[in-house]
Amino acid sequence: MATTKVAVLAELDEAVPHKVVVDGVPVCLVRFGDTVKAVHDTCSHQEWSLADGGTVYDNAVECSLHGSSFDLDAGRPSSLPATRPIPTFAVELDGDAVLLDVTAPTNDAPFPDH
Ligand code: FES
Repeated sequence: MATTKVAVLAELDEAVPHKVVVDGVPVCLVRFGDTVKAVHDTCSHQEWSLADGGTVYDNAVECSLHGSSFDLDAGRPSSLPATRPIPTFAVELDGDAVLLDVTAPTNDAPFPDH
């Protein structure tokens, strides 16, 4: 599947998680200047949106429910209680358009099933 426009760069606040739904898949976007990172928005610990109250530290987003942090490039949790990674996605920019393909994650983490 081809990339889809999922957001406008200027509408993403710096280092603030932002949820979009792409072809039924919830995705958490985080902007760092002219770069945008994208991970699956559902925590691997329980069904909870990472963008819902989540906090960005360095290159990770911290789940607001129990505090696990997920690396925005690898999807791996760096703290308990989550132990499983979350899918990550490559982001392309075309001018101000933020593009990604949710059918082509960049790691082998399974999509959360809860
Ligand atoms: S739901 Fe995210 S750490 Fe528990």
